[in-house]
Amino acid sequence: MTTSRFDMKGIATRSALFAVATVGLLTPQMTMAQAEPLFIVAPTVKPEPNAPISAQRTQAHKLFRAITGVSLPIDDSRLKSMEALIAQNKSRDAAKIATNDALFYQNKVRDMAARMANRDESYRTPLNDFIATFVGVVRDSDTTSAKELLTGNFTYQADPAVIAAAGRPAIRMDETDDLVQSNNHYDDIRSNNYALKAVLKRVNGQRVLVDNAIANMPDPAGLITTRGFMQAHADAGTNRRLVEYSFRQFMCAPITDWADGTMPDDRVGRDVDRAPGGSANKYLTSCKNCHTGMDALRGAFARVDWINNNRIRYTPNQVSGKLNRNADQYPAGFATANDSFVNYSNSGRNKDAFGWRNNLSGTGMAAFGRMLADSQGFSRCMVKRVFESVCKRAPAEAETAAVRAMADDFERDNYHMRDLFEVVALRPECGLN
Ligand code: HEC
Repeated sequence: MTTSRFDMKGIATRSALFAVATVGLLTPQMTMAQAEPLFIVAPTVKPEPNAPISAQRTQAHKLFRAITGVSLPIDDSRLKSMEALIAQNKSRDAAKIATNDALFYQNKVRDMAARMANRDESYRTPLNDFIATFVGVVRDSDTTSAKELLTGNFTYQADPAVIAAAGRPAIRMDETDDLVQSNNHYDDIRSNNYALKAVLKRVNGQRVLVDNAIANMPDPAGLITTRGFMQAHADAGTNRRLVEYSFRQFMCAPITDWADGTMPDDRVGRDVDRAPGGSANKYLTSCKNCHTGMDALRGAFARVDWINNNRIRYTPNQVSGKLNRNADQYPAGFATANDSFVNYSNSGRNKDAFGWRNNLSGTGMAAFGRMLADSQGFSRCMVKRVFESVCKRAPAEAETAAVRAMADDFERDNYHMRDLFEVVALRPECGLN
């Protein structure tokens, strides 16, 4: 059952009408969302072919395009408002017009999240809970630290009240069929072209299969424990990819960058041959480099799996079979008995790059997510991602100090993502001024 279905004649059902009736009781933030356009529509602009275009208007156009990814007609009223602010040296306020626009969420933020959401790192990834949750956190930056991207126990879904008030079209939202066991809910938001800024609502408690029944995820870690991320990285394999891609997406560290064979290999799994092709040297000079750090962290994901090709399962009292697969390859290797992990990526170059701040060991995904979220590597990575997305190039090696300074400011600003987009867009390095 959903609360927002409509019958064949397009008449709202009783439950939908009930939802409409509750609109007046919504929180201020949700009431604000009501005023937002529910669908993305092309701007209607009356061209003014003979009007001169000021330098500030051109500047406004560049800034809006960089922040939202959309090139507006030069006579659009938003650009005129930005032009006036730029003329008064209020560039930051001008940037806020762009970050407040529905197009910012629909294009720039969605695309940034989409690239982080799957193995191909393609912005074409269809909307899912990972992407919606990222977009929701950016929208709600005033009350939500970006750290919650890795520590939160929530996702973002379509607000049934907003959908019902729209009068059309319905979104499937049955918990089992459309959220836990399929992506139907998000497919509908996308195919009906709903504006993400207006429609998304934070829903507390991540719902997954716990043993054999749907319940709250006992060990939530924000985006890491979303259906989207688990589908991409807990499918088949040995849950090593969950470590690899958590570092890749949230620490901006491909595994070849942080591989470090100088650390202890006591946690390397039994499935990793210690003499591949008969060569112990090959293990020492290649395999060990990646598997030392990755396998030591993999324990965090010992109790989770992607099953039936459609759902997450968490087993509170059991280690997933994939963790101890192919044990006969090297029986003296590490056998996973629980969800403890150890972080060996804390020496030399890794120590400087990641800037860990808390315990370097723990149990479970929530502790793993917290460890990443607390690190300097995470805040620097968010800066790099925003920079790349707004300034259309990766920060150069020579700009490392600038990236680190921006990351420190971002932390002091309580990890406010929307502010970060504005700050980065106005930095001289971004080249928009
Ligand atoms: C560049 C880093 C890197 C190196 C070097 C490396 N691995 Fe891996 N290995 C990985 C990653 C990442 C995965 C997880 C891949 C996945 O699940 O898609 C993996 C997975 C595995 C698996 C599990 C495969 C499965 O799904 O059952 C085995 C076994 C393995 N590696 C053995 C080795 C051996 C033996 C060597 C040396 C010859 C080696 N690896 C070198 C990164 C590396």
